[in-house]
Amino acid sequence: MTFAELWRELEPLGRDERTGGYRRYSWTPADAECRAWFTRHAEKRGLTVEPDHNGNLWAWWDPKSAARRNAVATGSHLDSVPDGGGYDGALGVVSALAAVDLLRSKNFYPERAVVLAVFTEEEGARFRIPCLGSRLMTGAVEPETARALTDDDGVTLAAAMTAAGCDAGLIGPRDDLLESIGAFVELHVEQGRALAPLGAAVGIGEGIWPHGRWRLDFAGRADHAGTARLADRKDPMLPYARTVLAARHAAACNGALATFGKVIAEPGGANGVPSAVRAWLDARAPDEATLETTVTAVRSASMRFCQEHGVTLSVRPESYTPAVRFDRGLQERIAGVLAAAGMKAPVLPTGAGHDAGVLAARVPTAMLFVRNPTGVSHSPAEHADLADCEAGVRALAAVLEDLAGLARR
Ligand code: GLV
Ligand code: MN
Ligand code: MN
Repeated sequence: MTFAELWRELEPLGRDERTGGYRRYSWTPADAECRAWFTRHAEKRGLTVEPDHNGNLWAWWDPKSAARRNAVATGSHLDSVPDGGGYDGALGVVSALAAVDLLRSKNFYPERAVVLAVFTEEEGARFRIPCLGSRLMTGAVEPETARALTDDDGVTLAAAMTAAGCDAGLIGPRDDLLESIGAFVELHVEQGRALAPLGAAVGIGEGIWPHGRWRLDFAGRADHAGTARLADRKDPMLPYARTVLAARHAAACNGALATFGKVIAEPGGANGVPSAVRAWLDARAPDEATLETTVTAVRSASMRFCQEHGVTLSVRPESYTPAVRFDRGLQERIAGVLAAAGMKAPVLPTGAGHDAGVLAARVPTAMLFVRNPTGVSHSPAEHADLADCEAGVRALAAVLEDLAGLARR
């Protein structure tokens, strides 16, 4: 099937009619539809689909020799942020299937197994740890910790997996699987706008900025909006609001990024001073020292504001991803393959997190980016032109062909 045919099928799944954004949260019915779609397509192509007990799916295109050593893995994720764009994650999965079809149309058969991966909870939109599926399979998160994670409704990961028909008792590291993979190449929509001015449809990932999420709990005292004198209030909204501005300032001063994208005021009455504000700081920087300086500045400012407003503060990290530098040898090999195919492919760093960043600790890993003409992502406005998506498929197919061997029959 062509990229466009596959895309048309996946496009409506998990899309909110009202906003046009995607709500493909892990272990929900929308997620199940996406998984079923992938499984159906993989099986239709004769691939063997093997879940890894952590919520990730692996679809194997085995060579005739049957050995699963040094396999070439590709894929991405199918979950989304709240009202996310259609391309983030999905582009890598659809492109992987389309690349298999393209290779088959050229009578290519792999000498090394090719395996298509779909990772779960990459965004951490439901259980708050991004790349949870890849972290679990690489042993970066303890199974017990993961099972107890809760979503905003208090549902544990264990309960959500059980409700979706999976045994959460089996989650845990998969060294056997990782040892069978010789390279991982994740294709992803570009998040940012570097390729458009360079006139390139496809780019190659250089590395990922270190980044993390911190949860800030501001605890004050609920009171009446119409009667509590301003001087008497312990209003957690005030130090929170000042913290947002301080984060913006610290990021600007340090050449970093800092974002509050999620905030919950409790109990949430329009005519009351809130008792508490829960907020999540997402911070990223080109290097770990700058990230630490930025987060420390935000934390100190926030503590000062809380003291001034009679509010208590607790800050705890929810996730952290160190700086990632993708495998140089693989990057250069891919650059050579794309140059030979006549494709201009600049090398780019990114501030976005990816399962490739987690796998990079265990397996030689690389990324391909497909041009995003506006650079907007994590938004229904995210876009990639069809011609660029097709160029991405050709690039990925060329890379898989090179890495998986040139056995033609
Ligand atoms: C994932 O998209 C992230 O960078 O948060
Ligand atoms: Mn994303
Ligand atoms: Mn993504």
